[in-house]
Amino acid sequence: MWLSGDKCTGNPRRVLMSEIEDKRGRSEQSKSLPVGPRSTTGTGKLIPVYVMGKQYMVPETLTIMKAMEYAGFKFIRGCGCRGGICGACATVYRKEGEYKLRVGLACQTVVEPNMYLTQIPFYPANRARYDFSKLTSAPEEIYKLYPELFRCIACNLCTKACPMDVQMMDVISALKQGDIARAAMLSFSCIQCGLCASRCMGELPQYHIAQLARRIYGSKIVPRAEHLGRAVKAINEGRHEEWLRMLMKMSEEELHSRYQEREMEPPMAGEDWVPVNAEYL
Ligand code: SF4
Ligand code: SF4
Ligand code: FES
Repeated sequence: MWLSGDKCTGNPRRVLMSEIEDKRGRSEQSKSLPVGPRSTTGTGKLIPVYVMGKQYMVPETLTIMKAMEYAGFKFIRGCGCRGGICGACATVYRKEGEYKLRVGLACQTVVEPNMYLTQIPFYPANRARYDFSKLTSAPEEIYKLYPELFRCIACNLCTKACPMDVQMMDVISALKQGDIARAAMLSFSCIQCGLCASRCMGELPQYHIAQLARRIYGSKIVPRAEHLGRAVKAINEGRHEEWLRMLMKMSEEELHSRYQEREMEPPMAGEDWVPVNAEYL
């Protein structure tokens, strides 16, 4: 859950350690090459991949996540959105003939022949505990909670590891300069997968630090959105109840045509744009 500092999964109760079961059990030996039972999820020729050291034949078109499921693994944890958003499925792999260890998201990375891989969706990186209501917007608050921030040696490996192209070294650099706003904006796309921390020579928990920066920015630096306040007040006062009830009585066709005919905000509309019919605002 975002507010407790865990990864965003769409399901706040979900714990995101990697726990994977080989449904066929470890007693099965690889005398005959393991081939997964569900061929419907993949097309193309079968290629060998090594999951935690054991060879499986999987369709070449599958992502690592689907290939593992094809091979008979069941994800209990370490899998969330399957769409590159939740950050639950960090994976480490090496390609054939290379010494380089690569990182990525299992739900986004396509298998390659003789790839060696494993799932490490949880990094036990340091996550500071704090009472957010007592924090101010002073950068020193972050320095106190995360003194390791200054261990950064600007190697940029975190940026290179990031599947979301977050310029994490610049985020850390902005924080060292006390620029929380810049750090928050630069790290906006972070999905908390932890891959940056896995490559950090300074042992920084970059994603937790950046998350704190975004929280401080959103709550204590950015001006309150007055129009949002007005909208919330209108909801609390029940101003939309009648219209909602009216919509609930409509047929699907009527809803469809209302939706099609609605006045849309132009793509280049400015902040001051309002619809011609402002009755429902
Ligand atoms: S910044 Fe780090 S935690 Fe965030 S998405 Fe990139 S690698 Fe993952
Ligand atoms: S990987 Fe660590 S040491 Fe290197 S730039 Fe990123 S935060 Fe700094
Ligand atoms: S399962 Fe959510 S990012 Fe891969």
